[in-house]
Amino acid sequence: MTAEYNHGIPGALKNAIDFLFKEWNNKVAGFVSYGGAALGTRAVEQLRLVMAELQVATVRNQVSLSLFTDLNFTVFKPAQFQENYVNSTLDQVIAWGNALKTLRT
Ligand SMILES: Cc1cc2nc3c(=O)[nH]c(=O)nc-3n(C[C@H](O)[C@H](O)[C@H](O)COP(=O)(O)O)c2cc1C
Repeated sequence: MTAEYNHGIPGALKNAIDFLFKEWNNKVAGFVSYGGAALGTRAVEQLRLVMAELQVATVRNQVSLSLFTDLNFTVFKPAQFQENYVNSTLDQVIAWGNALKTLRT
């Protein structure tokens, strides 16, 4: 899950990702972001590039939450339709996670 700061990922998240390398390899990632008008999607696009370097497979579907309507700035109450995005993202993560198992063993 990522916020978006000045069209990029938070420095603390990047630092946490960089702390590991091998542990990331041949895993799968699905993204949840939140932000203003662009819902944090620019941060996710950057994360996809970083994940590629770490040999992580990133699924297409993602969950993009609005600071205004899903978080109301303080209260996390996502719109009902977000459930579909959560489920379709998790479906892809599970499918690719299973497919990559042979590489991880
Ligand atoms: C310096 C700064 C830059 C920001 N830039 C963006 C941005 O580019 N896009 C966006 O959607 N939200 C932006 N925001 C809003 C943050 O995404 C929002 O404050 C969010 O709640 C931060 O998440 P956090 O409190 O979990 O760190 C910015 C906020 C700050 C303080």
